Amino acid sequence: MTDYQHILESIRRDVQPLFGKGKVASYIPALKNTDPKKFGIALETLAGQEYSIGDANERFSIQSISKVFTLTMAFAMVGEELWKRVGLEPSGSAFNSLVQLEYEKGKPRNPFINAGALVVTDVLIQHLPDPKADILNFVRKISGISDIEYDLDIARSERETGFTNTALVNFLKSHGNIVSPIEQVLDVYFHQCAIMMSCRELAKAFLYLANHGVIPATGERILTDSQAKRLNAVMMTCGFYDEAGEFAFRVGMPGKSGVGGGIVSVIPALLAIAVWSPELNERGNSVAGVMALELFTTRTGRSIF
Ligand code: DON
Repeated sequence: MTDYQHILESIRRDVQPLFGKGKVASYIPALKNTDPKKFGIALETLAGQEYSIGDANERFSIQSISKVFTLTMAFAMVGEELWKRVGLEPSGSAFNSLVQLEYEKGKPRNPFINAGALVVTDVLIQHLPDPKADILNFVRKISGISDIEYDLDIARSERETGFTNTALVNFLKSHGNIVSPIEQVLDVYFHQCAIMMSCRELAKAFLYLANHGVIPATGERILTDSQAKRLNAVMMTCGFYDEAGEFAFRVGMPGKSGVGGGIVSVIPALLAIAVWSPELNERGNSVAGVMALELFTTRTGRSIF
């Protein structure tokens, strides 16, 4: 049997030289005081084993990892219709790029770049009675953790400095691809990014994607088999923006990163793994986080390939 705990310990040791090689996100002022040396990993298997190391129980701002949750909700609600408003190709551009959206006439390349996530959030606002409460309740349900919350200071901080996202949502609206009021879309989007979760909570929350769309702890189906396959495929091709190819090459698992320094990946039918290390590379992905997952698939011999 694979000695996961021993492997996690070896990974923690071997990523130490990477500390200091990236930068904590500072464009959201409330994130810039995060301790750059934080490091945690949590692993949950479908067989119910749990392993963790370091700061795996400390909550951090999940940022773009939330886009997986909102995409799941929107895909479950509107199905394939969703792809009329948002595309399915890797962007090869920065997560907050404006230029591609202009060329492509207001249809975002994929649901994980900011433009695509803003459209997905708009879909939720159209269909849900209380989107902010409903998103939080969804995350609580899939993780089984009832006290997951928004960090209101982080949400406010991003609202105050979110000029690029404001530009994106205005541009989308000018092309008719945002239905709700701009302020409301930004408010819900900045809140979803400000959800606070630990590695352990994130690994638990992602298990439905390792389990063909069903929450293993409760048996509740969140996505159909086919939708779960598709969601994992979008994570594989688009989950790391202009680093998606390199992440697939080095790590070999679908996953999603956030500028809080978190990354969550899954191996269908086997496990979910979350890592947190706040220092980011130039593409907005955690430097030690990517390396930790590369070492994980290398040392366990498990990946999707
Ligand atoms: O909208 C933003 O810029 C942030 N709230 C989220 C960006 C993010 O996490 C990109 N991921 N690596």
